[in-house]
Amino acid sequence: MPSSLSSLEDQVVRILARYPKPRSAAMPILHLIQETQGFISKEAMEWVAARLDLQPAQILELVTFYPMFRQHPVGRNHLKICRTLPCALMGAESLRDHLLRKLGVKLDETTPDGRFTVSEVECLACCGSAPVLMVNDDLHENITPEKLEQILAACL
Ligand code: FES
Repeated sequence: MPSSLSSLEDQVVRILARYPKPRSAAMPILHLIQETQGFISKEAMEWVAARLDLQPAQILELVTFYPMFRQHPVGRNHLKICRTLPCALMGAESLRDHLLRKLGVKLDETTPDGRFTVSEVECLACCGSAPVLMVNDDLHENITPEKLEQILAACL
């Protein structure tokens, strides 16, 4: 067992106890790994598969299907801008382009200082206050270029 994952064993046992079949615990275990490790590595996927008596490809299917799962580390501030239609109609694309230009990165790249990663996500269920952006777990609504500058400044 990889040492960084072995520290999660107690929590994994508690999660498994909530489900009648081990495979049903795959999603909460993947969330646990991402919350504690920052992303889900190939090694972690293999570990989860072995723990749940599944094939690694079955775990890879989950990780690649759900856009909230990451296979690579991200910056300390993960900026996730909604790209679904209501936010797009309210200017999310130009906000995204502004962010990428200002930080000098492409989508899903991390700035060299490790501070920022910019990603696109699907609807964040706040369409009435589009455009919407998340910084890590914090939601920001009705984003304007001015608000975006304030959010970035608060991240420094
Ligand atoms: S479309 Fe962006 S929050 Fe729903």
